[in-house]
Amino acid sequence: MGNRDLEPRVRARLEDLANTQLLRTLQAPSGKDFSSNDYLGLAASKQLHDAMILGVQQEGCGSTGSRLIRGEREVFQSVESHFAKFKEAERALYFSSGYLANLAVLTTFPENGDIVFSDELNHASLIDGTRLSYADCVVFPHNDVLALSRLIRQHRGEGRIFVLVESIFSMDGDEAPLAEYAQLCRDEGVYLIVDEAHAVGIYGERGSGLIEELGMQADVFLSVNPAGKALGVSGAFVAGPDWAIEYLVQKARTFIFSTASLPATAWALEASLTYVTSGTEIRKRLVRSAGLLRERLLEAGIFIKNGRSQIVPIIIGSNERTVVVASLLQARGFDVRAIRPPTVASGTARLRVTVNAGISDETIDSFVSALIDALKN
Ligand SMILES: Cc1ncc(COP(=O)(O)O)c(C=O)c1O
Repeated sequence: MGNRDLEPRVRARLEDLANTQLLRTLQAPSGKDFSSNDYLGLAASKQLHDAMILGVQQEGCGSTGSRLIRGEREVFQSVESHFAKFKEAERALYFSSGYLANLAVLTTFPENGDIVFSDELNHASLIDGTRLSYADCVVFPHNDVLALSRLIRQHRGEGRIFVLVESIFSMDGDEAPLAEYAQLCRDEGVYLIVDEAHAVGIYGERGSGLIEELGMQADVFLSVNPAGKALGVSGAFVAGPDWAIEYLVQKARTFIFSTASLPATAWALEASLTYVTSGTEIRKRLVRSAGLLRERLLEAGIFIKNGRSQIVPIIIGSNERTVVVASLLQARGFDVRAIRPPTVASGTARLRVTVNAGISDETIDSFVSALIDALKN
């Protein structure tokens, strides 16, 4: 067989996925949005469209190279400096995705002999970053500050220590106890890295995230801020001290060895930052809608985790039933997706329901009654 036996192995793997209800299909949006990360509805806003079109007219489509070569543009530096101000950080660096930004941070700062302590529910990009890093990784129980402090004392050696968490967890929608982490990191002299993917654009007076809301900018070493979610475009900003950002420019392989984003994404992000900082109305509407959905689900006796965020998982358990419930909701005109392992732990398949600022109260009500019906199956 030699080289010819790959196809049967892959076909067997695909069959296993199908047999365990883990086969994914690519499905374009259809129906009312209860699944995207476009929490403020900015991806469809005229302001962002106009900015992006202008960007393409002025700068063309592709950037044509790495930022360190001919891919650099003034607009990247300008949006980075606006983002740094927004985040109250010394400096920010724009990457073409959150995944690449997390890989950059975790392969650049932690070195051999260092340890990264990572929450067990961290996103795949954070997990992959620690796998690619030369540092050791210790996974700690979700949101368990006490367990983390014990583990730090137990494992502490000569190297630097990093604590890695999300501020709002992507698949559970709950919040990290950031203030407690900040205290621990201060006491232990360790570096806190926070992925604000599902908080940036939403929380805090300026809307820059949970770090701002808690006033703990000084306690965070770096924040990673994906811009394809509430900010409505794509890419991600890493924000932190000037010396650290400079080091990323010099050393981060996903920054250096990859073509820069389309310059027009930075044009659209300038518009997005202007929009987010120009008022609190839309953010308040989102928070209110998230509260309403949570309230209605609890009234209907549907279990949800405590929290306040716009991500409201309905944990169903079996892969098969989750797929059935999702398709029943889709048939009623609601775009809800089944989230299964390995995205979430085995036996915790779920509907990852999200709300956005454009959803009306009536739509939330009709969604909850469709969900009640679908769960009867
Ligand atoms: C917590 C978290 N970090 C990072 C990412 C990756 O960001 P991006 O989609 O921009 O690659 C995501 C989502 O995809 C996420 O949920």
